[in-house]
Amino acid sequence: MEIVISSSMDELNLKGAEYFEKLLAAKPDAVLGLATGSTPIGIYNELIMKYRAGRIDFSRAKAVNLDEYIGLSPDDSQSYANFMQQKLFSQINIQPGNCYIPNGTADDIDAECQRYDRVIASLGGIDIQLLGIGHDGHIGFNEPGHSFEKQTHSIELTKETIAANARFFESMEKVPKRAITMGIKAIMNAKSVLLVAFGADKCDIVYRALTGPITPSVPGSILQLHPNLTVLLDDSAGAKLR
Ligand code: GLP
Repeated sequence: MEIVISSSMDELNLKGAEYFEKLLAAKPDAVLGLATGSTPIGIYNELIMKYRAGRIDFSRAKAVNLDEYIGLSPDDSQSYANFMQQKLFSQINIQPGNCYIPNGTADDIDAECQRYDRVIASLGGIDIQLLGIGHDGHIGFNEPGHSFEKQTHSIELTKETIAANARFFESMEKVPKRAITMGIKAIMNAKSVLLVAFGADKCDIVYRALTGPITPSVPGSILQLHPNLTVLLDDSAGAKLR
């Protein structure tokens, strides 16, 4: 595990983007595991700048996203599909047909989960998986207390996660209570993992995930076992690891 702690957000976001730049230079059709949330936005902005500067070509890249809310269609402004369009895909030259995200409005959610696993398998697995972390230690929407063996599945979000997500919705009632998430299994099968966390509110959970017992009650703790994990932390999120 490589841990980078810096006081400079610019440095961290640039470092994050450089992993993608190097990977795509070596493997133009790489499979990029992408994440939503506020944490990766700075890295996405760097990727957009690198694309505009002619330093990254996404024309053959594939993108697989971690998760999606159940009940929100891709054109809903709060769907993760829409987030990815706005924050990244519409601003780079990735092919729309190469961008994958679970369909939160599928009639048969279980069948959709199985379909998503087949998509990931058909792409040959994930080359780099970008991750944020929730305050309860969730990665993707793998909430505490579930088996590390799960593939893509539907999940009831915890009260804590619903409360954290409420900032993006008009009212608590509108916050989705369920989601589809890639399982820990696919995340752990990614060839490399880039975990990013910013802010003092992530300090405790980052410490527990990276140094505490490996347990489903802290889903991110499984990352300690990943053979190629890089962690980017600002000073606040990394305070207990100094
Ligand atoms: C959501 C996403 C996660 C993300 C987490 C943290 O739960 N499903 O992938 O890591 O939020 O979000 P933020 O980066 O805004 O703190």
